[in-house]
Amino acid sequence: MDVSIHSFKMEDINGVLEIESLSFNDPWTKRMFEEEIKNGNFYVVKEGERLIGYGGFVIVMDEGNLVNLAIHPLYRRRGIGTRLLRFLMDRAKGKGVKKIFLEVRRKNIPAISFYLKNGFLKIGERKGYYNNGEDAIIMVCHL
Ligand SMILES: CC(C)(COP(=O)(O)OP(=O)(O)OC[C@H]1O[C@@H](n2cnc3c(N)ncnc32)[C@H](O)[C@@H]1OP(=O)(O)O)[C@@H](O)C(=O)NCCC(=O)NCCS
Repeated sequence: MDVSIHSFKMEDINGVLEIESLSFNDPWTKRMFEEEIKNGNFYVVKEGERLIGYGGFVIVMDEGNLVNLAIHPLYRRRGIGTRLLRFLMDRAKGKGVKKIFLEVRRKNIPAISFYLKNGFLKIGERKGYYNNGEDAIIMVCHL
């Protein structure tokens, strides 16, 4: 597969919104993604010209927070999420980030398995963190 990773640009936004709506019950809005273009730590995965995934992080001092990551449903379980996550972790490390945090829905077993397999540990939870009242699991990875 001809898979490559690029900086997220305005021209990618429709492809990103499509995958976002296929992946989450409470998808991010166009405006939220536009903010991430400005933040500069958001990337898209393409197979040839087709957008098949995206993800990004924010940095506060020497800590990162993985704010979003998704792979198109038709492209899952092929190692593409792992490739993107490792890329994001390398970029964060290159910018001086020492550890990277994330929140994930307690019921999102695929994502929790995915992060555990990629070196993240569960360190806590936030009760009722999501709009629908669902709890978040907090995970961290030391880079
Ligand atoms: C989580 C997600 C990004 C994983 O992407 P992916 O490209 O399928 O992941 P990979 O193929 O790199 O998977 C690596 C490992 O993670 C684990 N994993 C991934 N999907 C899994 C699933 N559905 N069930 C159990 N384990 C899973 C497995 O250990 C897998 O290794 P294996 O395929 O050799 O068993 C993808 O399922 C997704 O986009 N989900 C919807 C959005 C989401 O929940 N994002 C995270 C929110 S914080």
